[in-house]
Amino acid sequence: MQDLIVTLDGPAGSGKSTVARVLAQRLGLEFLDTGAMYRGITAMAIARGVDVHTETHLVNELVRHCEIGFDWATDPPRLHVRGQDLTGRLRDDDVTGGVSAVARLPAVREVMVREQQRIGREHPRLVTEGRDQGSVVFPGAAAKFFLEASPAVRAQRRADQMRAAGRRVDVERIREQITARDAADASRSVAPLICPEDAERIDTSEMQLDEVLDLLTARVRALPGGG
Ligand code: DC
Repeated sequence: MQDLIVTLDGPAGSGKSTVARVLAQRLGLEFLDTGAMYRGITAMAIARGVDVHTETHLVNELVRHCEIGFDWATDPPRLHVRGQDLTGRLRDDDVTGGVSAVARLPAVREVMVREQQRIGREHPRLVTEGRDQGSVVFPGAAAKFFLEASPAVRAQRRADQMRAAGRRVDVERIREQITARDAADASRSVAPLICPEDAERIDTSEMQLDEVLDLLTARVRALPGGG
């Protein structure tokens, strides 16, 4: 079957995680959550007592021997770092608070990009979501989308997700975290969050999940090899 890489980039809470996962299911493609990889490194560093904001040399050292990977037999694939399943830790507050500091380190990005490209070779019919998937990791992707939404809408969506997972939520705090993370992700020197020139930009603020999915599904199905 023909290779088909679909990239979805955008800020936190733009809806891209859910959209990417369901889009992959609809199209019979595999799904890669690259944010989970940055979160996994962060969780591993915290578990080893590393302060990810100040001890960057230790994070750089750790990432060189991180053995990060997904279990593709599970849906969605569970994340393992050095043989440990860290999936349950990825959305915890300390990990969310530290991940931007980890994601801006060039040594970390270099390893993650290489690893994601390797995954793309092994799973060449893939929906991949993150911040740099269309711009850096898969510049030759068959379809590229950039999802956006207003900060208020994004905070509300993340709050709903957390409530559904049985977590206590403070929407205002989430909004502050999102704004801070946006600023950090857009201003870092390596692979800042940008909309690739050849990506379709979609503002999902006023759209229902199904509408976004229908639009993206139609776009991908129209491609050669898109089903
Ligand atoms: O999508 P997310 O919230 O799980 O992403 C977690 C962090 O990782 C976020 O601060 C942005 C960063 N990230 C990145 O820099 N590049 C990616 N491809 C994916 C995530």
